[in-house]
Amino acid sequence: LLPAPFTTPFVRPPVLEPVRRSGTTDYYRISMQPARTEFIPGLQTEVWGYNGLVPGPTIKAVQGRDVVVRQINNLPLVHPTLRYTPWTSVHLHGSASLPEYDGYASDITNPGQYKDYRYPNWQNARTLWYHDHGVHHTAENVLMGLAGLYQLSDSLDASLPLPQGEFDVPLIVSDRMFNTDGSLLIDRNDEAGVYGDVIIVNGRPWPAMPVKRRKYRFRILNASVSRSYKWSLDTGGPMTVIATDAGLVPAPQKVTSFRHGVAERYEVVIDFAKYAVGQRVVLRNTSPKNNIDFVNVDKVMAFDVVGDAFPKTNNSVPAVLFPGHEAMVVQESEAVRTRRFDFVRAGGRWTINGKTWDDVVASDFTSVLATPTIGDVEIWELRNLSGGWHHPAHIHFVDFRVLTRNGKPALAHERGAKDVVFLGENESVRLLIKFDHGRGKYMMHCHNLVHEDHDMMGQFEILDPDV
Ligand code: C2O
Ligand code: CU
Repeated sequence: LLPAPFTTPFVRPPVLEPVRRSGTTDYYRISMQPARTEFIPGLQTEVWGYNGLVPGPTIKAVQGRDVVVRQINNLPLVHPTLRYTPWTSVHLHGSASLPEYDGYASDITNPGQYKDYRYPNWQNARTLWYHDHGVHHTAENVLMGLAGLYQLSDSLDASLPLPQGEFDVPLIVSDRMFNTDGSLLIDRNDEAGVYGDVIIVNGRPWPAMPVKRRKYRFRILNASVSRSYKWSLDTGGPMTVIATDAGLVPAPQKVTSFRHGVAERYEVVIDFAKYAVGQRVVLRNTSPKNNIDFVNVDKVMAFDVVGDAFPKTNNSVPAVLFPGHEAMVVQESEAVRTRRFDFVRAGGRWTINGKTWDDVVASDFTSVLATPTIGDVEIWELRNLSGGWHHPAHIHFVDFRVLTRNGKPALAHERGAKDVVFLGENESVRLLIKFDHGRGKYMMHCHNLVHEDHDMMGQFEILDPDV
């Protein structure tokens, strides 16, 4: 039933065109709707996609221009087999959006309704993604297909000699499992996580991509519900990390493998010049602990080296990329306090500091885990004390820096500005965060979407002393 790895062609998601442009703003319309797609050759799978596409169309934004997206919920009133109502809330992950446009889990849009989301795009260039965040159904909605890429560019990124155009390639990776009729198998009873036996890149299982003998920039998004990955090339060759969640790193980091948790984005440059024409280079996955593995989840996609001519420009990685990122220049000595957040399984619930999203709802949305003040620099210490699990922890709105991991320096690939941090079993991290703008309530949560839905989510409130 399942295709052999590397037998399907590699594709890229289409770029969405705005319906209108004004002097300051690009306007888009997206319909969240059911569609059929062919993940498995010869089988039709019912999905829910942004404009019916899985992954959704890519939105390309430019620093300094606003984007407004009308998100129309054209989903059915009930899921055909799971029997729940797919209310939605669209989060642009990586954007410093105002609270009312941030995809707050309980700010739901029911089938038949729409909401306009406004994105400010004043941040530096980065790879973001938009995905569903509807309370208690995020895992199912994302598994059904509600996720897409959003690329923000700026003049610094564009001025660097990094690969561009056809050599700047998104890799949206997720795992899924199928019934024999091609429908998605979604197990809602497992509160630990949902794992698939098929690795899907840009909507295709284990694709093969022809590559020319030069450098490529890959924007890798882990859009899985629960799975974390550890990437390597079967040649043992290097990958150069040039960006993390919140944009370019100060200096490129050469690695031969790295761990990638749910919702994190890593951008790597791979140089195929050293490989021979006709050679196949395989992107592999050695799952970190606490995943469920199946026979082919150690394979992701293949790069088939071809001899075609290619442009020689934009084919290098400068030694200095973005030392000026705000999150990277703030100093630990500026921190005015340390807060601690424990990610724990307690009383049959996934909790942060003993609290869940149900507590937030029960308090009429007044209950908060932290109240930083605008202008403050804080250290947030996140601990995963629940042995046997990993938690990709996401803090909305801010960019942060990983100061230490388990008391040691941050890993080579995570030495850049981030908004998700991977908490492996019994790991702890110290994050440095500057709350230098914004105000209001934002979510923080585990991005294993099953944990998030079973309620490992809370909120913090940025206070403005002048109000
Ligand atoms: Cu990518 Cu709160 O989410
Ligand atoms: Cu978790």
